[in-house]
This record gives sequence, structure tokens and C-alpha cells, in this order.
Amino acid sequence: SAEIVRIPVVVHVVANTDEQNIDDDQIRSQLTVLTTDFRSANPDLSRVPSPFAPLVGDPMIEFEPASVDPDGNPTDGITRTITPVRAFGTDDAVKFRARGGIDAWPADRYLNIWVCRLDRGLLGYAQFPGGAAETDGVVVNYTAFGTTGTATAPFDRGRTLTHEVGHYLNLFHIWGDDGTGCGGTDEVDDTPNQAGPNYGKPTFPRVTCGNGPHGDMFMDYMDYVDDEAMMMFTAGQAARMRACLEAARKSLWS
Ligand code: ARG
Ligand code: ZN
Ligand code: CA
Repeated sequence: SAEIVRIPVVVHVVANTDEQNIDDDQIRSQLTVLTTDFRSANPDLSRVPSPFAPLVGDPMIEFEPASVDPDGNPTDGITRTITPVRAFGTDDAVKFRARGGIDAWPADRYLNIWVCRLDRGLLGYAQFPGGAAETDGVVVNYTAFGTTGTATAPFDRGRTLTHEVGHYLNLFHIWGDDGTGCGGTDEVDDTPNQAGPNYGKPTFPRVTCGNGPHGDMFMDYMDYVDDEAMMMFTAGQAARMRACLEAARKSLWS
């Protein structure tokens, strides 16, 4: 279907220091990247190697700050919480007021995004569709969020959220999550089979698992490269996310 899907988002800023309490401009910069990437309107698409260019897809998904909160009151789609917790891990504590974070807004109506300091250099993590409502959504490190303020190279182009929202909409890592073997699959047909994650800024082509001549699609958002080295979803990935929005996540927008 050629319909644009619009998803309301709430950004929960959970801060232990003034620096972690990122400003509204930085949040806006991130939501702009998110919608631009999910409309394949990002200018750096022109850097996709030409053999892969025909595979680019437009998910046709737009994200907008929630304008009504769960109580029916007007909101700018941002919550701010001061926490005694110096850094969070992947145990979902940031998603609970009782653990130093803030509770999710109803996950059937909002995409919940928590921004906080994550320990061990973690950029972010996401919950796939089908999980508990209380923990549904994505978490992003405040140093890898947006393009201004505390955003820090090489993760200062807002692509951590693009990657995490890919998971939230049911995309697996492009290498199939089987370590560096060639037996894994991302369940998407138009992404090449590739051995393991790529990092940094790889040079095209990078051949693994006999996927020559064009090799790994390391410039896909679901690989692990630097923000400036990732810039595409495929049509197959777009279709998989749209299928999720027609099923498990339909209540978000319809
Ligand atoms: N490592 C994280 C994950 O698997 C995020 C990777 C994001 N990469 C980036 N270039 N921002 O969810
Ligand atoms: Zn991931
Ligand atoms: Ca594949």
C-alpha cells in the first residue's frame, strides 16, 4: 500500500547531570533524522554504491512528537526526569520510575524513546514487537542521540535511533545474528547473506560468504558501521516493517 503511516513518539529524557538533560533542539534534530531516514529522503542515499541503489526502499513511515499525553492533555512529546542513577544498562531499569527511570506511555499508542546515559559504551537497545507493554520501545545513549549538543562522533548523525526503530519494527541485524558464520538470516530476501557485523567505515566491496562481486550491504542501517557509513533500508526491509505495522503494531497509527 502507498499510504504514509504516522507514528506518535514520546521522548523520555532521564538525566543524572545537566549535560545529560539534552535540550529540545537536540531532540528535534533526532526526530528529523528519523523521519528523513524512514522516508528515504536522506541526502546521503546518493552515496549508496550503484549496484545496491536499485534495492533501496521507502518504508513510508513518519514520526511526530505526541501532541496529546495519556491523560488527554496537550504535550510537546517530551518528558524530563532527574535520576540518581549514574548510568543505565540493558536491564530496562530506565523504563520504571521505581528504578530511577520513568514509566512508558501506553505502548499501543506511542513509540516510547528513552534517552539516558548507558554504561559500557552501549549506543542503544530495542524491544521487538510482541513483548511486554511496560518495556516496549527503544533506549538510546545521550551521546548517540540527534546531531547537535551531546551527540558525539562517529555516532552523531542520529542513526542509532534509526537502527533501533528498525528492530522495534521487527528487523533483525543484516548478518542474521549467527556470529561470523554464514548460516544466519535476517529473513529479508533482498539483503545479501553476510558473515558478521561491519564496523567503522568499510570500503566497497567487502566480500564474505561468497556474496561477491558486490559483497556485504554494510551501508544498511541494520549493520554496525559508523553513522556516516550507513544510509539505506532495502525494499524488502521496508515491506517487513510495513507488515509489522499492519499486524503487531497496527494500533500505533490506525
Ligand atoms: N549496537 C546497537 C544495537 O545493536 C546499535 C548500533 C547502532 N549503530 C550506529 N552506527 N549508530 O542495537
Ligand atoms: Zn541492533
Ligand atoms: Ca538476507
